[in-house]
Amino acid sequence: MHEEFQIVKIRKCRKEDLDEIYEIERVSFNYPYPPFVFYSYLNKLFFVAEENGRIIGYIVGDRERNLIVSIAVHPDYRRKGYGRKLMEYLLKHMHGEVILQVRKSNKGAIEFYKKLGFKEKKEIKSYYMDGEDAILMVKMID
Ligand SMILES: CC(C)(COP(=O)(O)OP(=O)(O)OC[C@H]1O[C@@H](n2cnc3c(N)ncnc32)[C@H](O)[C@@H]1OP(=O)(O)O)[C@@H](O)C(=O)NCCC(=O)NCCS
Repeated sequence: MHEEFQIVKIRKCRKEDLDEIYEIERVSFNYPYPPFVFYSYLNKLFFVAEENGRIIGYIVGDRERNLIVSIAVHPDYRRKGYGRKLMEYLLKHMHGEVILQVRKSNKGAIEFYKKLGFKEKKEIKSYYMDGEDAILMVKMID
């Protein structure tokens, strides 16, 4: 019997991962971050989930601002727990009140963050370039 082992590893992002990450970004967001943003976070809190050599998701955090900058999982791999794994891994590297902003219309992501213990703190009117409001969410990390 043939069995395929699917081993998912969370590790630091490397420069050679950026093309695959950008592809995930492009299919995940209407307004993707430009590639230079990802480049600027190399060697910072930038982690990927890798399955059998393929990048299936990423997360970026900013320690100075105590901020979750971005997270995305490839559409084919969602609702399998990888987003949670990435977030838990990142939060091990952060302390105090961690914040994030999410589009008010992004109900799936808001549910995901709530499931991970983030609370809605306030609305930020017209936060995004297209005029959409953001929800500021926070979580206290010991
Ligand atoms: C948000 C995102 C990263 C979640 O990744 P994921 O790997 O699918 O999440 P997980 O499988 O770890 O989900 C953990 C739990 O969060 C909740 N959750 C995740 N996605 C959800 C959704 N679309 N709707 C409702 N609840 C959701 C569920 O409770 C889920 O557990 P369950 O599947 O056992 O019910 C992914 O949907 C994504 O890449 N979205 C597009 C990019 C994006 O919007 N990023 C956030 C920008 S602020």
